[in-house]
Amino acid sequence: MPYSRSTPLLVANWKMNLDGQRGEVLARAVAEAASRHVDTAEVILAPPFPYIERVAAALLGSPVGLAAQDLHWENSGPFTGAVSAAMLADAGASHVLVGHSERRRIFGDDDNDVARKLTAARDGGLTPILCVGENLEQRDAGEALEVVAQQLDRALSPMGDSAAEDCVVAYEPVWAIGTGRVAGVDEAAEVHAAIHRQLGSEVRVLYGGSVTPDSATGLLAEPEIDGVLVGSASLTAPSFVAIIAATAAAVP
Ligand code: PGA
Repeated sequence: MPYSRSTPLLVANWKMNLDGQRGEVLARAVAEAASRHVDTAEVILAPPFPYIERVAAALLGSPVGLAAQDLHWENSGPFTGAVSAAMLADAGASHVLVGHSERRRIFGDDDNDVARKLTAARDGGLTPILCVGENLEQRDAGEALEVVAQQLDRALSPMGDSAAEDCVVAYEPVWAIGTGRVAGVDEAAEVHAAIHRQLGSEVRVLYGGSVTPDSATGLLAEPEIDGVLVGSASLTAPSFVAIIAATAAAVP
């Protein structure tokens, strides 16, 4: 997918939702909308592992890309339940989420795991979408910028100096995920600006956390916000198609 910071990147994180049939129908609707808005939006779907190939088939010939939601850092071996970057690429994924806050909080992925997954993704030919974000306690204590900078540093430094160039970053304040409480555009922009200062202005930084068709236009119009990572509002065609359509108004 050609890199262009001016084209917003919209990533649909289906999490552990939908079944194969509903995913396929949704993917076709998204493909149709993305084809109409190809000048203003790049779109990527992240279905559950078992549906990657089925969704890939539904997207064939469309401009929509595919991401996995997680990966293991090893290539192969006795890691029951795990999947490698090579397997995901083989199934049709070009991107993979790494370090989503649900992986960190529920499954115990720590900074070291995130760093290893990031390297494995890049070495396996996938573009990692590195998720970072502070929790409510950290936000209230005024530590958001520090927490995010540290998460980025711990994830990226083992990969070397230019690591960030191979990644997309998603800023997802934990208190805004699945809560209906979206960060204000200014609140998000402050963190995005800090991430761009830390990693370089060329790195795409997406916002995630309760994005809806209503909030998408304002978020996408903010120059520091290079796209959105969408959970709940990506699960039905009307809402996700409305977010795709919102890029037409947001992109100058
Ligand atoms: P949400 O999820 O849009 O439902 O808040 C976003 C995410 O977790 O990536």
